[in-house]
Amino acid sequence: MRQRAAITAKTLRTDRWWFAPLITVIGLGAWVTYATVRVFMHDFYWVEDYHYLTPFYSPCVTETCVPEAAHFGRVLPGWWIIPDAALTLPFLLLFRLTCYYYRKAYYRSFWLSPPACAVPDGHKTYSGETRFPLVGQNLHRYAFYAAVIISLINTWDAVLAFHSPKGFGFGLGNIVLLVNVVMLWAYTLSCHSCRHIAGGRLKHFSKHPVRYRFWTFVSKLNVRHMQLAWITLGTLALTDFYVMALSADWFNDLRFIN
Ligand code: FES
Repeated sequence: MRQRAAITAKTLRTDRWWFAPLITVIGLGAWVTYATVRVFMHDFYWVEDYHYLTPFYSPCVTETCVPEAAHFGRVLPGWWIIPDAALTLPFLLLFRLTCYYYRKAYYRSFWLSPPACAVPDGHKTYSGETRFPLVGQNLHRYAFYAAVIISLINTWDAVLAFHSPKGFGFGLGNIVLLVNVVMLWAYTLSCHSCRHIAGGRLKHFSKHPVRYRFWTFVSKLNVRHMQLAWITLGTLALTDFYVMALSADWFNDLRFIN
């Protein structure tokens, strides 16, 4: 391995290289705190009048779930330690944790490995992703398959939400749920594994026009993957907060039809 040049300074960078890791720690830390509190609240996840279900509780599968919100049955015990969406949350966590962008984000900001280009690593040794537990990052492709199924479930939730006591209904909550689902699809399809599944291992694009078109489409999303990673954290939290606020009667949904 090459030796570092003989300079005493830890880094010669004079710009604010620490700013991006700092913002990442604050942003991810705040989001994980909010999500953890909400997941173990076991309340305010369902709006009976309009059938709005927050994505943090989808699908609701424990015995404590409101029966109308349990679209796939209540198959798990209702202990507080078990999240109501216990069948999906672990896969979503795995999907985000193993995501190529989030890896960069938390390796740099939380693990300081390294915190920025041309700044020394916070650790003495480096083994990359060759050993346990980081070798598990290779599971990302399988987490992607699970994320596609979960996005389909979230889409189904958004469709079911076009319900009101008088039949079809449409309100601000529907827009919130739909925007969240569209952004979730954009993030999921912009995944690097998705791009490889679409266009990888092909010798001739000309012989696979459908895959070529799909690869071209996801490639356009792929260049925005980092932005989509953050946008979807925002839309997920906002959607959950909106459903919680309606469910807790903090304010009423803005209704356009019924
Ligand atoms: S690379 Fe980020 S979700 Fe797959």
